[in-house]
Parts: sequence; C-alpha cells; structure tokens
Amino acid sequence: MDSNKRPENMERITTKELADAFIAEQVEAVRKQVGDKKVLLALSGGVDSSVVAALLIKAIGKQLVCVHVNHGLMRKGESEQVIEVFKGQLDANLIYVDATDRFLDLLAGVSEPEKKRKIIGGEFIKVFDEEASKLEGISFLAQGTIYPDILESDGVKAHHNVGGLPEDMQFELVEPVKLLFKDEVRVVGSALGLPDTMVYRQPFPGPGLGVRCTGAITRDRLHALREADAILREEFDKNGLAGKVWQYFIVVPDMKSVGVKDGKRYEGWSAIIRAVNTTDAMSATIEEIPYALLHKITARITSEVDGINRVLYDLTPKPVGTIEFE
Ligand code: XMP
Repeated sequence: MDSNKRPENMERITTKELADAFIAEQVEAVRKQVGDKKVLLALSGGVDSSVVAALLIKAIGKQLVCVHVNHGLMRKGESEQVIEVFKGQLDANLIYVDATDRFLDLLAGVSEPEKKRKIIGGEFIKVFDEEASKLEGISFLAQGTIYPDILESDGVKAHHNVGGLPEDMQFELVEPVKLLFKDEVRVVGSALGLPDTMVYRQPFPGPGLGVRCTGAITRDRLHALREADAILREEFDKNGLAGKVWQYFIVVPDMKSVGVKDGKRYEGWSAIIRAVNTTDAMSATIEEIPYALLHKITARITSEVDGINRVLYDLTPKPVGTIEFE
C-alpha cells in the first residue's frame, strides 16, 4: 500500500472522539517506528509543526528534541508563545535559537522579494543544520507534512517555502499527520490540549513578516509593522472578526509621506490593512471591515506606533492581487 495515499474509507476527523482514536493509533505507530531513538523537529509555532510536536511529546516525551528558530520575522509574541506552551506547559525538550541578528544582517539592503525569500529559507536551513549537528544520537526527523502538501507537492506551498530541509540530512522521517487535511489537524491539536490561539491560527508565510515589510527590511520599520499588526489582531479579536476572517494583517511598504503630529511636520510610513476571505487560497475576496472599526484601528496605529502616520485599506481581491502583499 502507498503510505502517502489516504485510504478511501478513512473517516474525516471532525470530533474529539475521532481525534482521540487517531491520536491513540499514532502514538502507538510512532513508538513502534522510533523505539528508544531520538527525533528532531523544527517547531515553527505554526499549526502543523505544533500539532506534530504535541503528538510526539505524548508518544515519546523527551526523546523528541524540538528546535524553534526565531528568524526575527515572527509576529508579536509568537516565539514567546511557543516557549510558554511547549516548554512551560508540555515540558518539551526545546532548543530556542534567537537568530534575529543573523537574518536581519543578511537581509540588510536586499529589496527583491524572491531574493529575500531565498535568503530567509537558506539561512533557516543553515541555523537548523547547525543546531542538529550539535546534537548526538538523532535518528529521525519529524515533519508537519499534511495531506494537501502531498497532493500539491509542486503547488503553492512548494513554491513559497523556498528551500526545505537539506537533502543530505540522513534521517528517517516521522510524519504522523501526513494523511490529514488542515481542519482535521486542528481538531487533533485541540484534542491534544493545544490552545485555540495556536490551533486556529491564520495562515502565515514561512518568511514571516519579511514579506510584509516590503523592500529592504530595516529594524525600525519591521518593529513598526510588528506593533501595528498586533493592534490589528487585537481589534479583530475584540470585535469578533478574528474567527470569521481567513487572513488579516498589516503591510508596511518602504515609502514615507509627509504628515503632521503635535503641530509639527512628521514623515512616516503607511500601514496597509489587508483582510481577505478564501476557501483554498487560490482566489480571495476582501472582508468589508465596518468603517467605525477602521477608524478605531487607524487612530490606534497612528497614535501608538512610532513611525506610522497613515493607515490605508487594500481593496484588491485575488486575482489580481495575491493574498500576501510583497
Ligand atoms: P499568495 O500570497 O500567493 O498566498 O496569494 C497564498 C497563501 O499562501 C500563504 N503563503 C505562504 N505559506 N509559506 C507558506 O506556508 C510561504 O512562504 C508562504 N507565502 C505565502 C499566504 O499567506 C496565503 O495564505
């Protein structure tokens, strides 16, 4: 039987009971595959790698070594949440690498989008590889591959995730959720006790805020983007849009304009709000954010975030735009 093919009769996991049964089955399969050997996992904090981590912790505990690489392009509070949930609550064997300076130094002055993606993807592999080579006795590599990745292996995600893990890594793979669809991965994650903020996260590009800080990334503009994005997320949360809208974020292009603040000329960047709905990410429509909320978000971002003096609203569907704005 092709182990990469979902059996026709496999029931869609939609309930806690079905998730628990899947978890029990996988815990046993992983224990059988791995024995007393060690498994390495790159834990980004995204849905798929988080669910795999929680599942493997349940199956093999400290035999799992998680590496979380902070590339400095995470959203506000994300790396902190990974540490809090996995180290704090699940007592994981977690190595945290703050590689912010390495990434931002390499990206300095680079404005071409594909080049930026390549640098981020390439450096990620380097950092992960360096950490892996410091460890003794690792025999397996766990990955959060899910079924759409197999079905669309040369589709959107393959194109986006420049790089991937090094081919010469001599590990056998552990991929416990590779036959699941995203909605099932989420149900399994909840059944494993992961918080909703992690399990029902919006899609987020591997190169993180790097693609939303268009042009050559600078630390101050990246900081402004991260703070403005946090405000947007907070307001979407408070106003019931967080669970409803597929993807929403801020973009801060490399462009300044003149404004006034405290009676003085104030040159600042523009923060662009993007909020879209889609089912498959191949096409997308614009969420119609109520005007009152837009005004509130504008007022908060322009008064709370240093360096931003305008807020714009992107009304472009996909096509002709893409979901990301890079
Ligand atoms: P676009 O911008 O091409 O994006 O319309 C479609 C979806 O893919 C997400 N995206 C990524 N996902 N790694 C990912 O796993 C990436 O590098 C990446 N880049 C974009 C995007 O956020 C949207 O949901």
